Amino acid sequence: MPQPSEDQLKAQYAEIAVLAGQLAHEIKNPLSTISLNMELLREDLANTPETPQTRRGQERIDRVRRECQRLEGLLNDFLSFARAQAGRMEAVDMNQMIEELLQFFHPQAEAAQVEVVQLLDPFVPAVAIDREQMRASVLNLLINSVQAMPDGGRISVRTRRIGENLVLDLIDTGAGMDAQTISQIFDPFFSTKRGGSGLGLPAAKKIIETHGGTIRVQSEVGRGTQITIELPPALEGPKLLEQRR
Ligand SMILES: Nc1ncnc2c1ncn2[C@@H]1O[C@H](COP(=O)(O)OP(=O)(O)OP(=O)(O)O)[C@@H](O)[C@H]1O
Ligand SMILES: [Mg+2]
Repeated sequence: MPQPSEDQLKAQYAEIAVLAGQLAHEIKNPLSTISLNMELLREDLANTPETPQTRRGQERIDRVRRECQRLEGLLNDFLSFARAQAGRMEAVDMNQMIEELLQFFHPQAEAAQVEVVQLLDPFVPAVAIDREQMRASVLNLLINSVQAMPDGGRISVRTRRIGENLVLDLIDTGAGMDAQTISQIFDPFFSTKRGGSGLGLPAAKKIIETHGGTIRVQSEVGRGTQITIELPPALEGPKLLEQRR
């Protein structure tokens, strides 16, 4: 049998990716119905007199709800990974985006006893990005950092300029990673966490690369991790329009 050509393989891959996306979607809706009904069932049980049976029932419902939440998270991550390609590009002030994101993130960091330090260089260039996708990626990276600091710590969020480019560094004082782990973190579904999807970093990488950027990781066990994202500047006027296409 003749080997399929590269174009044929690409077309097959694209078809499978679309099907997988549709499948994930098909699973999501009934899953949220299950979740919602479990919640209602739990409320019903909470309103009946407590017996050993109702208590056991509640525990079982909680277990199902936790699994539903985990699957919902996995499907969301999968969908954003499958969809990760530059969508609506606009010139974005990264400092402003970071400030807004950190305000939103503050309660979560505080609850985990994580101090967040902002070091924003006011002279960084605007970047042409899909704001929502980039925001979601950076948020995932911040959550990774918090998860690497179970006893609290510090995340520094820094913007700076290298040549024409904007650089965003996320530096945490968390558990860090050994070389073996670092070599796998961008592999889809690689995770060291119970219930982790392992899609956060691959999705972030894909999104950053579709924006013409790069993502690098430096880490040391017991000391912490630095993620460095470099993005090209948004061009002015007609060139920006070209980038948007
Ligand atoms: N800041 C960090 N410090 C230490 N380890 C990290 C850090 N960020 C990522 N990792 C490691 O990389 C792995 C992959 O991260 P990724 O975000 O892709 O998936 P995950 O966090 O495990 O799952 P999910 O994002 O669905 O919760 C993590 O399981 C963890 O081992
Ligand atoms: Mg993650």
